[in-house]
Amino acid sequence: MPGDIETMTTNGHHDMPTTKPLPPQTGTTAQAAAAAHQTNGTTKPTSVLHANLNSPPPKIVSAQGNYLTTSTGTQIFDATGGAAVSCLGHNHPHVKKAIIDQLDTVEYTYSPFFTTDTSEKLAERLTKSTDGQMSKAFIVSSGSEAIEAALKLARQYFVEKGEPQRTRFIAREQSYHGNTLGALGVGGHKARRKIYEPLLNENVSFVSPPYPYRGMRDGESEEAYAQRLGEELEAEFQRVGPGNVCAFVAETMSGLTLGAVPPPKTYLSTMKSICTKHGALLILDEVMSGMGRTGTLHAWTQDSVVPHLQTVAKGLGAGYQPIGALLVHRDVVDVLSKGTGSFVHSQTYQGHPVACAAACAVQEVVEREGLMENVRALAPVLEKLLRERLGGHKNVGNIRGRGFMWGIELVADKPTKTPFPASKKLAATIHATGLRPEYGISLLPGGGVADGIDGDVIMLAPAYNITREDVEVIVERTARVVEGVLGG
Ligand SMILES: Cc1ncc(COP(=O)(O)O)c(C=O)c1O
Repeated sequence: MPGDIETMTTNGHHDMPTTKPLPPQTGTTAQAAAAAHQTNGTTKPTSVLHANLNSPPPKIVSAQGNYLTTSTGTQIFDATGGAAVSCLGHNHPHVKKAIIDQLDTVEYTYSPFFTTDTSEKLAERLTKSTDGQMSKAFIVSSGSEAIEAALKLARQYFVEKGEPQRTRFIAREQSYHGNTLGALGVGGHKARRKIYEPLLNENVSFVSPPYPYRGMRDGESEEAYAQRLGEELEAEFQRVGPGNVCAFVAETMSGLTLGAVPPPKTYLSTMKSICTKHGALLILDEVMSGMGRTGTLHAWTQDSVVPHLQTVAKGLGAGYQPIGALLVHRDVVDVLSKGTGSFVHSQTYQGHPVACAAACAVQEVVEREGLMENVRALAPVLEKLLRERLGGHKNVGNIRGRGFMWGIELVADKPTKTPFPASKKLAATIHATGLRPEYGISLLPGGGVADGIDGDVIMLAPAYNITREDVEVIVERTARVVEGVLGG
């Protein structure tokens, strides 16, 4: 990688290469940076604290369906809906109308004072979608806020049950639950935690994530692997004192920090049974994997493991409004309603009526247009084409995923699975290259998948309403970008 491209240190989400004007030269990073600079279409100073302070990203001036248009006229296929958010694509008329209608009714109410039809409707839709297992929804404005609420509710639940000694959380390495301090504290991604470590909670410990590509032994079955991970969790409960643990926190399907890894068979049930044995709660983070991303509205239904607390966000509002939610199992609700009767936590924009209206409309579209069926029908096509087109590439170590959430892990050496060093910023370079007009695709880059520092992954998370032709476009463009950066 040419050394004259400055690259950022790890930021909150992705390592992005800077896009300073470059002297003419060859090399993939140089081309990528130059292209991103071109698509930016502005050299004006900016007051925005961008992810990269010295180089703003391309500016989007319009969006329709799967396509984003930059200020320089480049059409980009949005194969990731930003950070796995825009699950209906862009500019959906039904959602836009619902937002306007809500603005005409009431734009904001403070939820402890007043409720609204839209927040009631959304909470009812969410709880019904779990078959009533989760009996209440606490609606917030982001995934991180949903996690903060989950951690606090877990703690309050035990205080009300008369077990105030339970203060500990067990989470997983290479996990991500958000960037607010509480959420970052249960996140196991070393690079994202690094500089904030002195500010993070000390009541959290970490166990290995399920990661078959690197963690499963030769000849080991998924069930045996899950059992081994269960033994590790059991040992951690014993180490910190089983009666001191509030909850085990896990993404039902790992997001960007591990790169779209589905849980191995029996993994979730094994983990839940250990939590149950010790009277601790299971918190499943479905901020990325939930609300349809894996082909069912809730990812846990595919493994028949019901959490005590569940977070959702991205696909809930599809990016039309910032919204997330904490879903609470009826057993947890019971303890609170028979106890103090109130959750000691609230936020100004909780249950925001316009956000709820948008989310209701998004969920209506998902249901009315049969989008879960579409995801389930096209997921095998996406998988097959990805494997055919990219599986044989010398640097594609592993392709995994479920539904419309796929990760392509890139390695320097396939037989030894040696990752590229983080300093190469390979995934970020692939992302920047994809934005060039001749490629025209937005891919989601992740770093640190191998060990929290090294290891690159490219994630795909297209809209639920794409067609088979769109799948072909995504695979072909993704493959061309990978080949463009790493060679054929
Ligand atoms: C699994 C998971 N949890 C939590 C979050 C945090 O959500 P937000 O960025 O909306 O705060 C994310 C965001 O990427 C996520 O993927």
